[in-house]
Amino acid sequence: MSATSIPGTAIPATAAPDTTHPDADRERDRWAASADAWDRWADPMADLADKLNRPLLDAAGLTEGHRLLDLASGAGEPALSAARRAGEDGLVVGSDLVPGMMAGAIRRARSVEGPAPAFTAADMTALPFADGAFDGVTCRFGIMFLPTVESALREVRRVLRPGGKAAFMVWGPRAGNGLFAEIGAAVADHLGEDGSLDPLFRFAEPGQLSTLMRSAGFVETSETELTPVRKAPAGQPFWRAALDMSFGHRLGALSVGERRDLEADIARRFDAQAVDGIVPVPSHSRIVAGW
Ligand SMILES: C[S@@+](CC[C@H](N)C(=O)[O-])C[C@H]1O[C@@H](n2cnc3c(N)ncnc32)[C@H](O)[C@@H]1O
Repeated sequence: MSATSIPGTAIPATAAPDTTHPDADRERDRWAASADAWDRWADPMADLADKLNRPLLDAAGLTEGHRLLDLASGAGEPALSAARRAGEDGLVVGSDLVPGMMAGAIRRARSVEGPAPAFTAADMTALPFADGAFDGVTCRFGIMFLPTVESALREVRRVLRPGGKAAFMVWGPRAGNGLFAEIGAAVADHLGEDGSLDPLFRFAEPGQLSTLMRSAGFVETSETELTPVRKAPAGQPFWRAALDMSFGHRLGALSVGERRDLEADIARRFDAQAVDGIVPVPSHSRIVAGW
Protein backbone atom coordinates (compact mmCIF):
# COMPACT_ATOMS: atom_id res chain seq x y z
CA MET A 1 0.00 0.00 0.00
CA SER A 2 1.35 3.44 -0.84
CA ALA A 3 1.84 6.21 1.68
CA THR A 4 -0.54 8.61 -0.01
CA SER A 5 -3.46 6.65 -1.45
CA ILE A 6 -6.21 4.79 0.36
CA PRO A 7 -7.44 2.20 -2.10
CA GLY A 8 -10.84 0.58 -1.82
CA THR A 9 -12.35 3.05 0.62
CA ALA A 10 -14.43 6.18 0.53
CA ILE A 11 -11.77 7.94 2.64
CA PRO A 12 -10.28 10.99 0.89
CA ALA A 13 -6.48 10.84 0.35
CA THR A 14 -6.12 14.47 1.42
CA ALA A 15 -8.53 16.56 3.42
CA ALA A 16 -8.22 20.10 4.71
CA PRO A 17 -7.97 20.35 8.49
CA ASP A 18 -10.77 22.23 10.26
CA THR A 19 -9.43 25.79 10.26
CA THR A 20 -12.52 27.04 12.09
CA HIS A 21 -11.33 25.37 15.28
CA PRO A 22 -10.68 28.23 17.75
CA ASP A 23 -7.17 27.11 18.71
CA ALA A 24 -6.17 25.47 15.44
CA ASP A 25 -3.68 28.23 14.58
CA ARG A 26 -1.90 28.14 17.92
CA GLU A 27 -1.54 24.36 17.79
CA ARG A 28 -0.47 24.43 14.18
CA ASP A 29 2.28 27.01 14.92
CA ARG A 30 3.62 25.12 17.91
CA TRP A 31 3.93 21.82 16.05
CA ALA A 32 5.00 23.31 12.75
CA ALA A 33 7.99 24.86 14.58
CA SER A 34 9.01 21.44 15.95
CA ALA A 35 8.33 19.37 12.82
CA ASP A 36 11.94 19.19 11.58
CA ALA A 37 13.15 17.93 14.95
CA TRP A 38 10.44 15.25 15.04
CA ASP A 39 11.42 14.09 11.55
CA ARG A 40 15.15 14.09 12.42
CA TRP A 41 14.70 12.02 15.58
CA ALA A 42 11.99 9.65 14.33
CA ASP A 43 14.31 6.95 12.99
CA PRO A 44 16.88 6.99 15.83
CA MET A 45 14.00 6.75 18.33
CA ALA A 46 11.98 4.12 16.43
CA ASP A 47 12.94 1.13 18.63
CA LEU A 48 12.08 3.00 21.83
CA ALA A 49 8.86 4.20 20.22
CA ASP A 50 7.85 0.67 19.27
CA LYS A 51 8.12 -0.45 22.91
CA LEU A 52 5.32 2.00 23.71
CA ASN A 53 3.42 1.32 20.51
CA ARG A 54 2.99 -2.40 21.13
CA PRO A 55 0.85 -2.18 24.30
CA LEU A 56 -1.13 0.69 22.74
CA LEU A 57 -1.95 -1.40 19.66
CA ASP A 58 -2.82 -4.34 21.94
CA ALA A 59 -5.23 -2.09 23.85
CA ALA A 60 -6.87 -1.04 20.56
CA GLY A 61 -7.36 -4.74 19.74
CA LEU A 62 -5.42 -4.41 16.48
CA THR A 63 -4.94 -7.67 14.62
CA GLU A 64 -4.23 -8.66 11.04
CA GLY A 65 -6.81 -7.45 8.55
CA HIS A 66 -8.15 -4.65 10.80
CA ARG A 67 -8.84 -1.09 9.69
CA LEU A 68 -7.21 1.32 12.14
CA LEU A 69 -7.18 5.10 12.32
CA ASP A 70 -4.23 6.70 14.12
CA LEU A 71 -4.82 10.31 15.24
CA ALA A 72 -2.12 12.95 15.81
CA SER A 73 0.44 10.58 14.24
CA GLY A 74 3.20 13.21 14.13
CA ALA A 75 6.23 11.59 12.49
CA GLY A 76 4.41 8.25 12.28
CA GLU A 77 4.00 6.72 15.76
CA PRO A 78 2.29 4.35 16.17
CA ALA A 79 0.91 4.29 12.60
CA LEU A 80 4.00 2.59 11.12
CA SER A 81 4.03 -0.15 13.77
CA ALA A 82 0.27 -0.55 13.30
CA ALA A 83 0.54 -1.06 9.54
CA ARG A 84 3.03 -3.91 10.06
CA ARG A 85 0.59 -5.60 12.44
CA ALA A 86 -2.53 -5.01 10.29
CA GLY A 87 -0.72 -6.60 7.35
CA GLU A 88 -1.50 -6.56 3.65
CA ASP A 89 -5.19 -7.28 4.24
CA GLY A 90 -5.58 -4.46 6.75
CA LEU A 91 -5.66 -0.70 6.41
CA VAL A 92 -3.94 1.86 8.63
CA VAL A 93 -4.62 5.54 8.14
CA GLY A 94 -2.33 7.96 9.94
CA SER A 95 -3.46 11.56 10.40
CA ASP A 96 -2.41 14.83 11.97
CA LEU A 97 -3.54 18.44 12.18
CA VAL A 98 -0.15 19.69 10.94
CA PRO A 99 1.00 18.56 7.49
CA GLY A 100 4.63 19.47 8.38
CA MET A 101 4.58 16.98 11.28
CA MET A 102 3.40 14.27 8.88
CA ALA A 103 6.21 14.96 6.38
CA GLY A 104 8.46 12.69 8.44
CA ALA A 105 5.74 10.04 8.62
CA ILE A 106 5.23 10.05 4.85
CA ARG A 107 8.99 9.91 4.24
CA ARG A 108 9.30 6.94 6.59
CA ALA A 109 6.29 5.14 5.10
CA ARG A 110 7.80 5.40 1.62
CA SER A 111 10.97 3.62 2.75
CA VAL A 112 9.13 0.78 4.50
CA GLU A 113 9.23 -2.68 2.98
CA GLY A 114 5.82 -4.29 3.40
CA PRO A 115 2.59 -2.75 4.61
CA ALA A 116 2.72 1.01 5.25
CA PRO A 117 0.08 3.43 6.46
CA ALA A 118 -1.67 5.99 4.29
CA PHE A 119 -1.51 9.52 5.72
CA THR A 120 -3.95 12.39 5.52
CA ALA A 121 -4.30 15.75 7.26
CA ALA A 122 -7.14 15.70 9.78
CA ASP A 123 -8.21 17.68 12.82
CA MET A 124 -9.43 15.09 15.27
CA THR A 125 -12.31 17.33 16.31
CA ALA A 126 -13.78 17.13 12.76
CA LEU A 127 -12.71 13.88 11.15
CA PRO A 128 -13.13 13.50 7.36
CA PHE A 129 -14.19 9.84 7.60
CA ALA A 130 -17.47 7.99 7.31
CA ASP A 131 -19.40 6.70 10.34
CA GLY A 132 -18.19 3.26 11.45
CA ALA A 133 -15.24 3.28 9.02
CA PHE A 134 -12.69 1.77 11.45
CA ASP A 135 -12.28 -1.28 13.72
CA GLY A 136 -9.96 0.67 15.99
CA VAL A 137 -8.59 4.14 16.73
CA THR A 138 -5.29 5.00 18.41
CA CYS A 139 -3.77 8.28 19.53
CA ARG A 140 -0.34 8.42 21.15
CA PHE A 141 0.38 11.58 23.17
CA GLY A 142 -2.04 13.74 21.16
CA ILE A 143 -5.42 14.03 22.89
CA MET A 144 -4.05 16.35 25.60
CA PHE A 145 -3.41 19.16 23.11
CA LEU A 146 -7.07 19.69 22.25
CA PRO A 147 -9.00 22.49 23.92
CA THR A 148 -12.22 20.54 23.27
CA VAL A 149 -11.39 16.93 24.04
CA GLU A 150 -15.10 16.07 24.17
CA SER A 151 -15.62 16.89 20.48
CA ALA A 152 -12.67 14.68 19.51
CA LEU A 153 -14.01 11.78 21.59
CA ARG A 154 -17.42 12.10 19.93
CA GLU A 155 -15.71 12.00 16.53
CA VAL A 156 -13.69 8.93 17.53
CA ARG A 157 -16.88 7.18 18.57
CA ARG A 158 -18.58 8.14 15.31
CA VAL A 159 -15.85 6.67 13.06
CA LEU A 160 -15.60 3.44 15.09
CA ARG A 161 -17.73 0.51 13.99
CA PRO A 162 -20.09 -0.87 16.67
CA GLY A 163 -17.87 -2.83 19.08
CA GLY A 164 -14.73 -1.07 17.86
CA LYS A 165 -12.06 0.06 20.33
CA ALA A 166 -10.20 3.31 20.91
CA ALA A 167 -6.91 3.52 22.82
CA PHE A 168 -5.20 6.73 23.92
CA MET A 169 -1.71 7.05 25.39
CA VAL A 170 -1.19 9.98 27.76
CA TRP A 171 1.56 11.04 30.15
CA GLY A 172 1.41 10.39 33.89
CA PRO A 173 2.67 13.06 36.35
CA ARG A 174 5.65 15.25 35.43
CA ALA A 175 7.61 14.04 38.48
CA GLY A 176 7.42 10.46 37.18
CA ASN A 177 8.85 11.46 33.80
CA GLY A 178 12.55 12.11 34.37
CA LEU A 179 13.29 13.53 30.94
CA PHE A 180 10.56 16.15 31.08
CA ALA A 181 11.21 16.96 34.74
CA GLU A 182 14.96 17.62 34.34
CA ILE A 183 14.94 19.17 30.87
CA GLY A 184 11.90 21.29 31.72
CA ALA A 185 13.60 22.61 34.88
CA ALA A 186 16.80 23.46 32.97
CA VAL A 187 14.90 25.20 30.16
CA ALA A 188 12.90 27.19 32.74
CA ASP A 189 16.15 28.28 34.45
CA HIS A 190 17.76 29.38 31.17
CA LEU A 191 14.79 30.67 29.14
CA GLY A 192 12.07 31.27 31.72
CA GLU A 193 8.96 29.21 32.35
CA ASP A 194 6.39 29.51 29.54
CA GLY A 195 4.08 26.69 30.63
CA SER A 196 4.41 24.92 27.30
CA LEU A 197 5.01 21.54 28.98
CA ASP A 198 1.86 21.80 31.09
CA PRO A 199 -0.60 20.38 28.52
CA LEU A 200 1.43 17.16 28.39
CA PHE A 201 0.28 16.37 31.93
CA ARG A 202 -3.36 17.30 31.48
CA PHE A 203 -4.47 13.68 31.99
CA ALA A 204 -1.80 12.85 34.55
CA GLU A 205 -4.35 11.78 37.16
CA PRO A 206 -5.93 8.33 36.76
CA GLY A 207 -9.59 8.36 35.72
CA GLN A 208 -9.68 11.83 34.12
CA LEU A 209 -9.75 10.69 30.50
CA SER A 210 -11.89 7.63 31.23
CA THR A 211 -14.55 9.89 32.71
CA LEU A 212 -14.59 12.05 29.58
CA MET A 213 -14.76 8.94 27.38
CA ARG A 214 -17.78 7.59 29.22
CA SER A 215 -19.47 10.99 28.91
CA ALA A 216 -18.82 10.80 25.17
CA GLY A 217 -20.66 7.46 25.00
CA PHE A 218 -17.98 4.79 25.48
CA VAL A 219 -19.69 2.04 27.45
CA GLU A 220 -16.64 0.53 29.08
CA THR A 221 -13.15 1.91 29.73
CA SER A 222 -9.88 0.57 31.14
CA GLU A 223 -6.62 2.19 32.24
CA THR A 224 -3.14 0.66 32.25
CA GLU A 225 -0.09 2.32 33.80
CA LEU A 226 3.31 1.96 32.11
CA THR A 227 6.26 2.87 34.35
CA PRO A 228 9.47 1.63 32.73
CA VAL A 229 12.84 2.94 33.89
CA ARG A 230 15.32 3.47 31.07
CA LYS A 231 18.97 2.80 31.88
CA ALA A 232 20.78 5.57 30.04
CA PRO A 233 24.57 5.86 29.77
CA ALA A 234 26.02 8.71 31.86
CA GLY A 235 28.01 11.25 29.85
CA GLN A 236 25.94 10.63 26.70
CA PRO A 237 23.35 13.08 25.31
CA PHE A 238 20.46 10.57 25.51
CA TRP A 239 18.26 13.54 26.48
CA ARG A 240 18.85 15.55 23.28
CA ALA A 241 15.91 14.09 21.33
CA ALA A 242 13.51 15.06 24.12
CA LEU A 243 15.02 18.55 24.29
CA ASP A 244 14.70 19.12 20.53
CA MET A 245 11.23 17.63 20.20
CA SER A 246 9.64 19.18 23.29
CA PHE A 247 11.26 22.61 23.09
CA GLY A 248 11.89 22.98 19.34
CA HIS A 249 9.62 26.03 19.30
CA ARG A 250 11.86 27.83 21.84
CA LEU A 251 15.40 26.68 20.99
CA GLY A 252 15.61 28.69 17.76
CA ALA A 253 15.88 31.88 19.82
CA LEU A 254 19.15 30.73 21.50
CA SER A 255 22.63 31.77 20.38
CA VAL A 256 25.22 29.00 19.93
CA GLY A 257 26.73 29.87 23.33
CA GLU A 258 23.36 29.90 25.09
CA ARG A 259 22.47 26.53 23.62
CA ARG A 260 25.85 25.13 24.73
CA ASP A 261 25.28 26.40 28.29
CA LEU A 262 21.77 24.93 28.41
CA GLU A 263 22.98 21.53 27.18
CA ALA A 264 25.88 21.53 29.64
CA ASP A 265 23.42 22.21 32.46
CA ILE A 266 21.13 19.35 31.35
CA ALA A 267 24.10 16.98 31.11
CA ARG A 268 25.21 17.97 34.65
CA ARG A 269 21.72 17.36 36.05
CA PHE A 270 21.54 13.83 34.65
CA ASP A 271 25.16 12.91 35.39
CA ALA A 272 24.55 13.85 39.04
CA GLN A 273 22.00 10.99 39.18
CA ALA A 274 24.33 8.33 37.73
CA VAL A 275 25.06 5.13 39.61
CA ASP A 276 27.94 3.04 38.22
CA GLY A 277 27.82 4.96 34.94
CA ILE A 278 24.06 4.47 34.46
CA VAL A 279 21.42 7.18 34.75
CA PRO A 280 18.01 5.73 35.70
CA VAL A 281 15.37 7.66 33.73
CA PRO A 282 11.83 6.88 34.89
CA SER A 283 8.84 7.40 32.64
CA HIS A 284 5.15 7.17 33.41
CA SER A 285 2.50 6.91 30.74
CA ARG A 286 -1.03 5.53 30.75
CA ILE A 287 -3.15 3.74 28.17
CA VAL A 288 -6.82 4.60 28.38
CA ALA A 289 -8.97 2.34 26.22
CA GLY A 290 -12.69 2.33 25.57
CA TRP A 291 -15.33 0.30 23.73
C1 LIG B 1 3.40 14.98 20.95
S1 LIG B 1 2.97 14.88 19.24
C2 LIG B 1 2.63 13.15 19.13
C3 LIG B 1 3.04 12.56 17.80
C4 LIG B 1 3.02 11.01 17.72
N1 LIG B 1 1.70 10.46 17.96
C5 LIG B 1 4.01 10.40 18.67
O1 LIG B 1 3.62 9.87 19.71
O2 LIG B 1 5.23 10.44 18.37
C6 LIG B 1 1.37 15.62 19.24
C7 LIG B 1 0.74 15.74 17.86
O3 LIG B 1 -0.63 16.16 18.01
C8 LIG B 1 -0.96 16.87 16.83
N2 LIG B 1 -2.21 17.61 17.05
C9 LIG B 1 -2.43 18.69 17.84
N3 LIG B 1 -3.70 19.08 17.76
C10 LIG B 1 -4.34 18.23 16.91
C11 LIG B 1 -5.66 18.12 16.40
N4 LIG B 1 -6.61 18.97 16.77
N5 LIG B 1 -5.95 17.13 15.53
C12 LIG B 1 -4.98 16.26 15.12
N6 LIG B 1 -3.70 16.32 15.56
C13 LIG B 1 -3.38 17.30 16.44
C14 LIG B 1 0.26 17.74 16.61
O4 LIG B 1 0.31 18.27 15.30
C15 LIG B 1 1.39 16.75 16.92
O5 LIG B 1 1.85 16.11 15.76
